[in-house]
Amino acid sequence: MTSHAIEVKNLYKIFGPRGEDYVDVVRNGMGKAELNEKHGHVLGLQDINISMPGGCITVVMGLSGSGKSTLIRHINRLIDPTAGEVLYDGVDVCKMNENDLRNFRRHKTAMVFQKFALLPHRTVLENTIYGLEIQGVERRESEKRALGWIERVGLKGFERHYPNQLSGGMQQRVGLARALTNNAEILLMDEAYSALDPLIRVDMQTVLLELQSELKKTVVFITHDLDEALRLGDKIAILRDGRVVQQGTGQEIVLSPADDYITAFVKEVNRGRVVHVETIMRPLSGSPEGLPIAADTVLEAAARTMTSAHLNTAHVVDANGRPIGSVDLQTIIGAMVMPASHHESKAA
Ligand SMILES: Nc1ncnc2c1ncn2[C@@H]1O[C@H](COP(=O)(O)OP(=O)(O)O)[C@@H](O)[C@H]1O
Ligand SMILES: [Mg+2]
Repeated sequence: MTSHAIEVKNLYKIFGPRGEDYVDVVRNGMGKAELNEKHGHVLGLQDINISMPGGCITVVMGLSGSGKSTLIRHINRLIDPTAGEVLYDGVDVCKMNENDLRNFRRHKTAMVFQKFALLPHRTVLENTIYGLEIQGVERRESEKRALGWIERVGLKGFERHYPNQLSGGMQQRVGLARALTNNAEILLMDEAYSALDPLIRVDMQTVLLELQSELKKTVVFITHDLDEALRLGDKIAILRDGRVVQQGTGQEIVLSPADDYITAFVKEVNRGRVVHVETIMRPLSGSPEGLPIAADTVLEAAARTMTSAHLNTAHVVDANGRPIGSVDLQTIIGAMVMPASHHESKAA
């Protein structure tokens, strides 16, 4: 299996009739507000460099207007860049000819939208099959594929329903089934879950994570919600005013926020659900004690396991079950609350 990575390199988008003319002034430091005031152009994206590993979920997070949709739309070139590249398997999407681009969009990418974009006069099955119909796939084959995915997203029995007979969460499942039926390697999800009620939203996150553990798509998931980003993202890039202000794993971002802006964002995060025991373990001294706990277990889960086993000490094991460190309950609980250094640096 090849990597199917997406590399965004030195990407700029300046909206307006003469965007190219202003790339250099932006490179030389002119910000969004000044560009708008002085030159009447909108700085959409500025020097974006993100590598999105194949088979992983990369989350792009930021407040409204930070450039998230502009960025994701470059990946299937619904928007042309003002400067820079978007490489997929090493090929620049921005330089594809019309034919290659059409094939790339049709066969490699699928979009899942917030507003579902379902066709109201088509049933669940007909909506799911739509992409294959366009591709000219034979009816019997496309129906078989679609029915399989409809079942996988939990909609068995609803094949003949129309979108308006379904709840928001169920409509979003149809959107997902449709994307998966197209068998695209890249899933582009622009605030796909933002309109859903909180509980339904968590359900849909679970559906995505379960499917992803098996399918290993290259997913680009956009959200303005940090909890969602932390739950889904193998990697997270945070945008602000069209720039990447930090990128890394959720744990990296929560433990060492790059600036005050991100510190404010992550302040309320439940660290117990983000930080792995591996990060806080001590080196092993002597033989391993207590329960074995996998290195990537989050603190909250480790604490729960240890508490229910009435144990204060555990040892951390790597993917091969080899002991690599030890932890105790007190350290785990200490690490779940904000570290003292944080308060001190704020007070200073
Ligand atoms: N077609 C366009 N023309 C001019 N400005 C645009 C256009 N599309 C987006 N923008 C501007 O680019 C910035 C980023 O927008 P967008 O990518 O939609 O942000 P987000 O998805 O994070 O809410 C905003 O300031 C927006 O007003
Ligand atoms: Mg948007």
